[in-house]
Amino acid sequence: MASKRESIQGMWSSRLAFVLAVTGSAVGLGNIWKFPYIAGENGGGAFVLVYLLCVFLIGLPVMMSEILIGRRGRRNPVETMRLLGEEESGQGAWSLVGGLGIAAGILILSFYSVIAGWALAYIFKSGAATFAGESKTVIEATFDNHLADWKAQLLWHGAFMVMTVFVVAQGVQKGLERAVRFLMPALLLLLLVLLGYAMKQGDFSGALDFMFTPKWDALSVDGVIIALGHAFFTLSVGMGAVMAYGAYLPEDASIGSTSIAVVLADTGIALLSGLVIFPIVFQNGLDPAGGPGLIFQTLPVAFAQMKGGVFFGTLFFILLSFAAWTSAIGLIEPAAAWLTEQRKVSRPAAAALLGVVIGGLGILTVLSFNVLSDFTFARGTIFDNIDFLTSSIMLPLGGMLIVLFAGWVMCRNSTSEELGIGTGVRYQAWRFLSRFLAPAGILYIFVKEVF
Ligand code: TRP
Repeated sequence: MASKRESIQGMWSSRLAFVLAVTGSAVGLGNIWKFPYIAGENGGGAFVLVYLLCVFLIGLPVMMSEILIGRRGRRNPVETMRLLGEEESGQGAWSLVGGLGIAAGILILSFYSVIAGWALAYIFKSGAATFAGESKTVIEATFDNHLADWKAQLLWHGAFMVMTVFVVAQGVQKGLERAVRFLMPALLLLLLVLLGYAMKQGDFSGALDFMFTPKWDALSVDGVIIALGHAFFTLSVGMGAVMAYGAYLPEDASIGSTSIAVVLADTGIALLSGLVIFPIVFQNGLDPAGGPGLIFQTLPVAFAQMKGGVFFGTLFFILLSFAAWTSAIGLIEPAAAWLTEQRKVSRPAAAALLGVVIGGLGILTVLSFNVLSDFTFARGTIFDNIDFLTSSIMLPLGGMLIVLFAGWVMCRNSTSEELGIGTGVRYQAWRFLSRFLAPAGILYIFVKEVF
């Protein structure tokens, strides 16, 4: 084998640990908070179909490419891209892809943490039976009041950043592996309970129709680029996070089957969330295009009517916070790995420094929902713009460069050796998607967006 590099940060204890960590990073606010509301804003059916196509035809090959690059380089994404770039083509400038990813991760976490802060706040609101027996008007007003209260949001955002820094400071393995192993199944179980409620009490057929009957005229070009961006966002790919995790992956783990498992789990949870949210939306005459507040307004309506709603509501927001937590760690890992490896900063110091920077940036998102809500440009508020810039531009661009690198710059021997699936039909399929279909698809959507 050409490369027998070792990771400086240590290794995952097993293949399962890696699957759990990548699943933990993939399953997060993107699935439960973002997917339903952007599907709602973009008309449902057709959007969902485009999103699924992007996930399997573009997101999956990007994920495989990221893991294989990460494992071969075994460094932080910047250094890995530089090393492999020089090895495969004498071109170290590929390190810029890693830099782009680090920047994207920092920007994403700055708003991600604010939304996670909403989830934390809602644990306590549900726990205090704020919603029990209340009408949808009261529940909607509760959310609007929370948005208006920038001090409370700052506090919860700060709390979430502290939680994230705490785990990252200790190194990835310890807390994370254990937490994910236990919490992901719990989250799935609770979603299934909620699905039962939505099927019985909600407008389930209305929801099915909304989500799975493609109405093409409801889908704009903008909607397509949002679907593409979301495929990257929800799978955590395009920014080197999975690459960083791949650097700690044992040599004998299969990259293909691992990626497929993660993609299926992630997509399943997103669709399940939609099937929980939309029946409640339609049953209660709520607006599917309700925007970022959608789950914070619909689910409490369901919990308010449900037997044991205080319990289930509190549990739901606890699990949502955990799902966000395991994702936040992945968003920070590339930057933390870069600081520790290239700048010789200790892990705790790197985590703390990033916490301060990202926490500070997050203030812009907090204020986008109140003080600065009228300050709009390009895509809307500052939050809207950070979201669009990262999900719809930086991640697809990063993803395109990653598949181009794996498909065209790396030689066949390197990639087939690293994927470990020989050179048969499965390898050919990956190579075709990575060389042609995925880059062409991303380029096509970009070009359409511009013109
Ligand atoms: N996938 C995460 C979610 O759906 C968000 C995310 C985007 C992410 N990029 C990431 C998480 C990188 C970890 C690493 O909520």
